[in-house]
Amino acid sequence: MGDARPVGLFDSGVGGLTVLQEILRQLPKESTIYFGDNAHVPYGSRTTEELIGLAYNIISFLVAQKVKYIIFACNTNSSISLPVLKKYFPVQMVGLIKSGAQEAVKATKNHRIGVIATAATIKNGAYAREIKAASPRAAVFSQAAPKLVPIVENGKIKTAEAFQATREYVKPLKEAGIDTLIFGCSHYPFLSHEFTAALGPDIKLVDPATATVMKAREEMQKLNLLNNPIPQNSPTHRFYVSGNPHKFQELASCLWNHPMPEVEQVSLEK
Ligand code: DGL
Repeated sequence: MGDARPVGLFDSGVGGLTVLQEILRQLPKESTIYFGDNAHVPYGSRTTEELIGLAYNIISFLVAQKVKYIIFACNTNSSISLPVLKKYFPVQMVGLIKSGAQEAVKATKNHRIGVIATAATIKNGAYAREIKAASPRAAVFSQAAPKLVPIVENGKIKTAEAFQATREYVKPLKEAGIDTLIFGCSHYPFLSHEFTAALGPDIKLVDPATATVMKAREEMQKLNLLNNPIPQNSPTHRFYVSGNPHKFQELASCLWNHPMPEVEQVSLEK
């Protein structure tokens, strides 16, 4: 029968849907619970204390929903909150940074790796540390991109503003001669057209979600947590947000190009 409890994941808004997409692809038998903290987006300009407090409340909520495993679908929290909070909860958790860094090290040929992420993730330096740990000879070029999350959250993908901002941010990375770029924020895969237009076809784009979900799957298998539903019991996918549920639902339907199920608003303020 397997373990039918859901996998929990969270982000500041719709960015984590790029991770959910990977879960649906690699773990199609699993039920999920998604939390989008859209009352507090963007995370990238928040302090360490704020981020840890917000993540603590979200993880407590997911644990109360009886999730069996948590995937941090947010790089900002993967770098800042996960190392602190994993000690406090009795549930296995994984973040995006280590797998993303290792994937980029595998992909690069010239050992010049770019990281584009929120200001908080870049300031924390977790990607640079993990890349260096995986390959001491790698050179890491980091770029904070504070305009990109608001562009995605305001539904402005594929606009002139989105192409312009992306071009501006990747310019110094191109000049540094990178051959691989890590999407260090889960919102950015929604801007992959903009990135490909700005970078050209030769720079490899790494979305950490792919390798992270693969790792989650391996860990869940080892811990006997994988689901094996009987045919008439198909997996369920629930969505919660802290802010406006209609805005989230509308935006997610556009980004995903198919209708979203009902989204429920919950307040986690203590
Ligand atoms: N999508 C998140 C990340 O991966 C958070 C972005 C934000 O809210 O600034 O970092």
